Amino acid sequence: MSNSSNQFIKNTILRLLGAIGSEKEINKYIEKFSSPEQRFAVIKVGGSVIENDLENLISSLVFLNQVGLKPVILHGAGPMLSAALEEKKIDFSFINGQRVTSIEVRDVAQGVFEETNTKIVAALEAQGASAKGLVSEIFQCSIKDPELGYVGSIESVNVQRVNEVLESDSIPVIAPIGFQDSEMLNINADIATVELVKAINPYKAIFLSETGGIFNKAGELIPNINLALEYEELMQEEWLHSGMKLKLEQITSLLNHLPKSASVSITEPINLPKELFTDSGSGTLIKYGYNVSQYQLPDAEIQKNFKTIIESSFSGNLIDSFFANPQNLDIFMTSCKRATIAISHEFSIPYMDKFGVIPEAKGEGLGAGIWHEMRKVYPQVFWRSRPNNPINKFYTSICEGCQKQDEWHIFWIGISDYGSLKDCIEYAIRKPKSVI
Ligand code: ARG
Repeated sequence: MSNSSNQFIKNTILRLLGAIGSEKEINKYIEKFSSPEQRFAVIKVGGSVIENDLENLISSLVFLNQVGLKPVILHGAGPMLSAALEEKKIDFSFINGQRVTSIEVRDVAQGVFEETNTKIVAALEAQGASAKGLVSEIFQCSIKDPELGYVGSIESVNVQRVNEVLESDSIPVIAPIGFQDSEMLNINADIATVELVKAINPYKAIFLSETGGIFNKAGELIPNINLALEYEELMQEEWLHSGMKLKLEQITSLLNHLPKSASVSITEPINLPKELFTDSGSGTLIKYGYNVSQYQLPDAEIQKNFKTIIESSFSGNLIDSFFANPQNLDIFMTSCKRATIAISHEFSIPYMDKFGVIPEAKGEGLGAGIWHEMRKVYPQVFWRSRPNNPINKFYTSICEGCQKQDEWHIFWIGISDYGSLKDCIEYAIRKPKSVI
């Protein structure tokens, strides 16, 4: 393709993306993901996605290719392999999610993986994206658990080969088949992904699935998981089924190996661009995250950090008298000092006076994390926001009630008494501005 038609496609795509997010957001992520310092992403594609959603998968990947981003793809083929084995009347079983692999199973697996790999590469190339299939040349393995048969435990990952493909401007499409000397070995695709991610150290690890995320008890998608704050809690939840717990465990081990800036996204193929190029995303974003501390009598240092965060998030100046009565303020702050909440006790019911996340940190789930911690301490709280503030969508989703006035929207949680509510609304409307 010529350079000018490439540029044309890129511009068209950026325009289309404009429909899902602001130009500023999109450019922020394109810049972040194109950084020469860190590889963009490893994307794990489950076998059932290839079976049932290949078209969306390919258009999302071609789309990334057209904006100049090259991910490393690792695919599964579990359902196809099971079907092929059933057809050939070969018995198979699993131990802890890993397929017990006899020599017959291994030979069928190799054929199915080769076929699936070729199918993805051909589909990408048919849409003008250059791709290279890598079957059984990336993972050097040994057999650690003879009970599993021909299953490889990964000893090393041939990153150099992956880099060569990326540098030749192709998308590496890797099958989870390893080798020991000249013997092929089967590898569980999730395990292969974890090892590949650890070796490549990318900015993002993405799991594409048909369900597109992790869901809570009520069946709603969980948009953000901050492991530092929520891992223990989540692992205790009865509603989180064992498959998801296993996945979360693997993801945690993976994020433990990557820099703090790295993240894992779980989404569906069709939502991949939205997940990648907007702050709010579309799927579940998992980060190692940061701890949140609470300061009941904020000292000078905390006051200074608070002021920096608020001024950068609201592009204004915090009035000097904000900390005139620090005993009335309760400050929450993430350990990275990029998100903060101030609760004021000046009124009889706790008032959330400020909630700020610096613009560069939006989309990392810091806001959701700090909010979660504040809510553990404050079952009852009210706050206000400007009608045009983009955060109102989030506020509307988490509040129990809201009153919309011309100048302010007032939100609350845990206040049901009508009289108190009226006083709260009155208080919120009258309160002078503290960022000017
Ligand atoms: N676009 C950003 C990223 O890919 C943020 C995604 C936020 N996603 C979410 N499900 N909360 O890192």
